[in-house]
Amino acid sequence: MSDLDLTALHEFARREGGLSRRTFLAYSTTLAALPWLAERSEGAVMRRATFAGNPFRLGVASGDPTSTGVVLWTRLATEPLIPGGGLPPEAIEVQWEIADDEAMTKVVRRGTALATPQLGHSVHVEADGLKPDRWYWYRFRAGDVESPTARTRTMPAPAAQPDRLRFAFASCQHYETGLFTAYEHMVKDDLDLILHLGDYIYEDEGKPDKVRIHLGKECESLDDYRLRYAQYKSDPLLQAAHARCPWLVTWDDHEVDNNYAGSASAIKGVDSLALLARRANAYQAYYETMPLRRPSIPRGPRMRLYRKASFGRLAELLILDTRQFRSDQANGDKPADLNDEALDPKRTMLGQRQAGWLQSSLLTSTATWNVLAQQVMMALVKRKREAGMLYSMDQWAGYAAERIKLVKFLAERRVPNPIVLTGDIHSNWVNDLRVDDRMPETPVVATEFVGTSISSGGNGTSASKGLEQLRSENPGVRYHDAQRGYVRCTVTPGIWRTDLVEVEDISRPGAPAVERASFIVEAGKPGAQAT
Ligand SMILES: [Fe+2]
Repeated sequence: MSDLDLTALHEFARREGGLSRRTFLAYSTTLAALPWLAERSEGAVMRRATFAGNPFRLGVASGDPTSTGVVLWTRLATEPLIPGGGLPPEAIEVQWEIADDEAMTKVVRRGTALATPQLGHSVHVEADGLKPDRWYWYRFRAGDVESPTARTRTMPAPAAQPDRLRFAFASCQHYETGLFTAYEHMVKDDLDLILHLGDYIYEDEGKPDKVRIHLGKECESLDDYRLRYAQYKSDPLLQAAHARCPWLVTWDDHEVDNNYAGSASAIKGVDSLALLARRANAYQAYYETMPLRRPSIPRGPRMRLYRKASFGRLAELLILDTRQFRSDQANGDKPADLNDEALDPKRTMLGQRQAGWLQSSLLTSTATWNVLAQQVMMALVKRKREAGMLYSMDQWAGYAAERIKLVKFLAERRVPNPIVLTGDIHSNWVNDLRVDDRMPETPVVATEFVGTSISSGGNGTSASKGLEQLRSENPGVRYHDAQRGYVRCTVTPGIWRTDLVEVEDISRPGAPAVERASFIVEAGKPGAQAT
């Protein structure tokens, strides 16, 4: 969709939200005025910029590696916490180089890129022509200033059979409720990759009496979201984790607004086009902040984030987007039984295109382990609520027909060794998945590891109340706790190992981490085993 293609936007909005023409016109001006993305600069270019301060205060990052390339990212800002980042509204030329060694003496690729004001002076370089399965180091230069040097890597060649993949996954890093100490431990783990499964930021306004405080009001405008990302990105522990290895990222709800669904706000009375206008701002700021490839450049309120990454033939990582295309939550997003509305086959979590892409990706995968990296809990888990044992309608349970169909597909098509990775609910869960989790007599098809939050919710508890009842009502649940931390996975051709790593106290710097529990899955033998 181009900036002037309002007819397409209108059609899109009508399809998404069934909007009236009057409502559409009311918002079309706002949408048309958004700083639509310029991949090339239309104004002046500062080739030898001079800066009043360090323009690399938001750090550097890399992501979306292939066997021959990787995205190198930075976003220039001398004053990250003010609109405009302290830079002139002009494009700035940035040099980049990637080398075989940390001292940057053996440079293998270099080039220039433009940091344009239209994209918040972010830089996304798709470095290519690299060797498979290798570590590299990279840095940027703007004017006379050099960025820190950071480490990244390529994936093994598509036909390679690697011995081991070691990665961590994280989610839910509310800046106010705790420190990002988990990343301080993660960087010591000798990881090939880090996956972020969403809630990289939280959109809400600052509240007093927390560990830290959000700057500014609740995010709605592009500047609001840019400022919020800049505040999060200023965290040195988060920057260090980005500098350590490539990341694969996807979003959940708080990158836009709590529990939004497609073009539907969770707040009653908010019009679909108002949500789409906000979504366009949020998606643009997300793209600007993340090491993503060109297919992920947003077009207004649309952005392609679902994609795959192959670690040779050891693991296929299918990265899903369960927010942008989903139907509005069933039963008013209140906990409910798996009633007719939750089981309505017309309801979708992935949207038709993504679901089709997922199926064909699974069928063509030649990997030993097939990993769905996504946001919301796939196990159908009922939990104690005031009105009895009920299911969350924001999770796959609220899209139960599609959920059952997906796991049935995994079973019937004999997709090898499916593993589901999940974030969202600020707690650790190990769940064995069946086609219908309400039928424990049927075979286990896949295992889901739900990773706890980096900081959301503040310091947690070792087990939620009523754990025994939870497990007796949900036979697929193998483990649960509600501490803070991250999840580390070591994948070999024969064994998948998951370690739940927990930080003892996220309200004080430097707290130690412990390995709370570990589970393995044997290739060819579905189901988690405690170690
Ligand atoms: Fe969250």
